[in-house]
Amino acid sequence: MEWKIIRLDEVDSTNEYAKGIAPSSPEGTVVVAKRQTAGKGRKGRFWASPEGGLWVSVILKPNRSDPRLVFVGALAVVDALADFGIRGWIKWPNDVWVGGKKIAGILTEGKAGKFVVMGIGLNVNNEIPSDLRETATSMRAILGKRLELNEVTNRVLDHLGRWYKIFQRNPLKVIEAVKERTILINREVKVIHSDGEISGTAVDILEDGSLLIDTGEGKVRVVYGDVSIRPI
Ligand code: ATP
Ligand code: BTN
Repeated sequence: MEWKIIRLDEVDSTNEYAKGIAPSSPEGTVVVAKRQTAGKGRKGRFWASPEGGLWVSVILKPNRSDPRLVFVGALAVVDALADFGIRGWIKWPNDVWVGGKKIAGILTEGKAGKFVVMGIGLNVNNEIPSDLRETATSMRAILGKRLELNEVTNRVLDHLGRWYKIFQRNPLKVIEAVKERTILINREVKVIHSDGEISGTAVDILEDGSLLIDTGEGKVRVVYGDVSIRPI
């Protein structure tokens, strides 16, 4: 993929900016910001985005929108981390964890049939706010040194282009790769959603990208959206 990169010093959210320009921008347009003043996660949750991290949104124009696209972003992050010697794992559906802490999150948004904006937040050299230190980490914290942010950006975009191509040809290849890199399979998990919780063992990721939980009384298919998964 030929990327066309728009670099900003500061923006509210690269996803918001990208959604604004997406209708008139070609696929492969990328928005990167040094810092975000209103970075966001799923369900509008706050995403800490001080200088030093990778805050990027990529405009894609797939033939049809597919919720499994989020995995393309997660795989790109895991493979980019590996290039720097870090073993990362996908926490289904949209987080990447290293050593029990969250290092990256993916947020896909878009307009059905028109465009998808894939936002990736990856903690590279940035400080982790004190209230997140128990649950979040960065590449700098793991490696004990600062990295060249541009190099990390290029690695992530290279892998993203590659996985996106694979996804377009055969989405099941992407599901297979996610299965190999997930921390959840065979783990006890708690699924928290708007009308309650269920606990069980995560046993599989199905072709449609949903997570299969064995509750002991039967198997339940969890579609991502309004759910949070906690390994227990
Ligand atoms: P869970 O699945 O555990 O509920 P989630 O993936 O649904 O998490 P998101 O909305 O995806 O949660 O991510 C937002 C959350 O990530 C915030 O509530 C905050 O706890 C955490 N967070 C915010 N900024 C960062 C950051 N820079 N690095 C790591 N974690 C962060
Ligand atoms: C999550 O874990 O919920 C996803 C976090 C996604 C954060 C990235 S940073 C770049 C892009 N812009 C945003 O406002 N969010 C995404």
